[in-house]
Amino acid sequence: MIFRHIDEPGYTNDLACYQRHGGYGILRKAVTMAPQAIIDEVRKSGLRGRGGAGFPCGVKWGLVDRKSGKPIYLIVNADESEPGTFKDRYIIHQDPHQLLEGTMISCFANNVKQAYIYIRGEFPHGARILERAIAEARAANLCGPNILGTGYSCEIYIHRGAGAYICGEETGLIESLEGKRAYPRIKPPYFPAVLGLYQCPTIVNNVETLCHVKHIVDMGGEAFSKIGTPNNTGTRLLCVSGHVQRPGYYEFEVGKITLGELLNEVCGGPLPGRKFKAVIPGGSSAKVLKFGETFTLKNKDGSTRTLTVEDIPMDFDTMAACGTMGGSGGVIVMDDSVNMVEALANINAFYAHESCGQCTPCREGSLWMKKITTRMVHDEARAEDGTLVKSVADQIAGRTICAFGEACSWPTQSFVAKFGEEFKEYAALKNSKSADALPIV
Ligand SMILES: Cc1cc2nc3c(=O)[nH]c(=O)nc-3n(C[C@H](O)[C@H](O)[C@H](O)COP(=O)(O)O)c2cc1C
Ligand code: SF4
Repeated sequence: MIFRHIDEPGYTNDLACYQRHGGYGILRKAVTMAPQAIIDEVRKSGLRGRGGAGFPCGVKWGLVDRKSGKPIYLIVNADESEPGTFKDRYIIHQDPHQLLEGTMISCFANNVKQAYIYIRGEFPHGARILERAIAEARAANLCGPNILGTGYSCEIYIHRGAGAYICGEETGLIESLEGKRAYPRIKPPYFPAVLGLYQCPTIVNNVETLCHVKHIVDMGGEAFSKIGTPNNTGTRLLCVSGHVQRPGYYEFEVGKITLGELLNEVCGGPLPGRKFKAVIPGGSSAKVLKFGETFTLKNKDGSTRTLTVEDIPMDFDTMAACGTMGGSGGVIVMDDSVNMVEALANINAFYAHESCGQCTPCREGSLWMKKITTRMVHDEARAEDGTLVKSVADQIAGRTICAFGEACSWPTQSFVAKFGEEFKEYAALKNSKSADALPIV
């Protein structure tokens, strides 16, 4: 659906090419509909947000405070800073008008007059592409004043971040857009749907989510809801990185492909002579899965079924039932060449660097997790370090202002729970090679 044209030979990211492929035809249809009818279609479609949490898009739009008399804003979350995730970037580079069309339809449905695309600072090329696309769309009367002669006006602005992961968290993003340091806000009361940008009702949606809106209006919510699996509808973009033969971007019906099929058939399996060891299925903050572990899940009729990692369908609900998440769609594959202590040290260094520092458990805890795993890698590893670092993680999740607390503790909790023996072996090995010791960094 979203990648329908992207890989066609000669497909370019300019307006003329997009329109040759039917582009903006669905916006033309949308502006003839009642705005509420579009919201109803999105609700019917069952579309769940593709930014990480999988929250139903139609429900989110339904929560917007439309009675306050304040303007309603829409923000496109193009921060895409979750390690292992690079799908939004691909859409922006290859098909920016698809994003703009989905955004304009969403703005029209929600009576939004100003929309912002918040794009991460590390995407300067993407920002330039979007600037050009907006100028093209504006010149063609597809955004800006009096769109398509309907009397409806809406401007889209690009706002570039300055390179902080926390700007992807919706309330941190809003603070940043207001020109402040990206400190996430406390919910309640700061639910964006009520008190968002400039204290006005605000919709924050991911790039991919908004692209899906266009297809929902095209085919109708009912038809969209039949794609994928119940409660996990539509297609989903997966970006696979790491130790597979064919890493890349793939689009599948949600839940219609298993992790094993994705990695072995689509991505060509492990590298020669290697075996899969672990996979993080939804961006680095999702809990790691260990090849060889199994999950016993309850069926609706009360019976149970046992799944291996390879059996897990790529959907939101089964991933959650297996103790992890589909998250941002970033599938990070690790083979048996990977040392899990070193991999965790890498992840922990990232999160310690990115904590905004407002909450003590997150600020101090993420730093201590980094210090412990860094010490293990560079200096002195102790047999009890796995337990120690997990005890720090256990005191962060659930005690913070924003979900970064979970994002930074889940890797440690799951790595140690599933590869605890490796942490002990690593300590024994390191201590037997004291010449390798390096100072803590
Ligand atoms: C620490 C953190 C980082 C996040 N980063 C992103 C991001 O880079 N892109 C994104 O779309 N959502 C990100 N999110 C999720 C957003 O807060 C928000 O839920 C999302 O943009 C909503 O869009 P959706 O409903 O379309 O998924 C992040 C959340 C957290 C807690
Ligand atoms: S959990 Fe971490 S990132 Fe989120 S507000 Fe608290 S300190 Fe900042």
